[in-house]
Amino acid sequence: MKDQCTVWCPASVSNLNVGFDALGFCLSDAFDLMVFKRVSQPGVHLGELTGYPTPTAPEKNIACAAAASLLEKHGDPSIGIEISIDKRIKPGSGIGSSAASAVGAVIGVQALLETTFSEEQLLASALDGEQIASGARHADNIAPALFGKFCLIVSQENHRVVHLDTDLDLFYVVAHQHIEIKTSDSRNSLPREIQLKTAVSQWSSLAGFTAGLLTNNLDLMKHCAVDYVAEPVRRSSIPHFDPLKEIALKHGAFTFGISGSGPSVFALCEGAQKAKEVADQFDIFLSQNQAQEFKIYSGQIHQKGAHEIL
Ligand code: HSE
Repeated sequence: MKDQCTVWCPASVSNLNVGFDALGFCLSDAFDLMVFKRVSQPGVHLGELTGYPTPTAPEKNIACAAAASLLEKHGDPSIGIEISIDKRIKPGSGIGSSAASAVGAVIGVQALLETTFSEEQLLASALDGEQIASGARHADNIAPALFGKFCLIVSQENHRVVHLDTDLDLFYVVAHQHIEIKTSDSRNSLPREIQLKTAVSQWSSLAGFTAGLLTNNLDLMKHCAVDYVAEPVRRSSIPHFDPLKEIALKHGAFTFGISGSGPSVFALCEGAQKAKEVADQFDIFLSQNQAQEFKIYSGQIHQKGAHEIL
């Protein structure tokens, strides 16, 4: 077993308009860093906490819960691990801040133990952490943060994940306006039931968007990228949603929508040039119209997900 390791823990965009709780991708330029140290006292402990505030009580801390869950699967009660977190992804941003903590924890524990857990074990323990934050076991941020790329959750009961590869040269742009939207509150605002007609529209567009991604058919993705379920309810809580959408589509994005439960919004573009244009235009618009701080992220979909760094 190692004495220490450092883990890169990425942000992620979930839902992607068509796949509420079922689809997400991994970011490459927004991340937390976590350091894991072996300590003599058994169990999981918190070390230094820097960046955005995270709960200091281990039982309320997402990373501790996820790490403890994986340690339990390992089955050696004498092991002690201390986790230090540099929290760079703002909680309540809609880009998977809690998922980054949960995923970083399981990758860190695995690296420290020098053991290989199955994808299912890693995912289940990360979800044990994420559940503390959102009150639900949705894997649409956890899976892409853990495995990279686009991930589709094809079974909500046991969270079977399909990794989606594409040859399209896709870049994301994310605009994060610094207001906090709690995922649990945002989920509670959604209808408990939806019309059959709405459901048919949504599962058709999820299938079409996924087929387009896998067959490199950008037109099909663009045609299908409609959110019939969450956006109609959530868009009013996102400042400047409509003008940002207009800017994104005008400057080359083929889809735009709410990232997770917001307040971040995302756009997807083919090629770096279009993404740069959309990012620049978001920046100009928000600088001129924004009361609160904001941050723009942009890059290629990260192919690997959370991993140990030197
Ligand atoms: N799929 C979840 C939701 C993601 O939209 O509530 C939360 O970030």
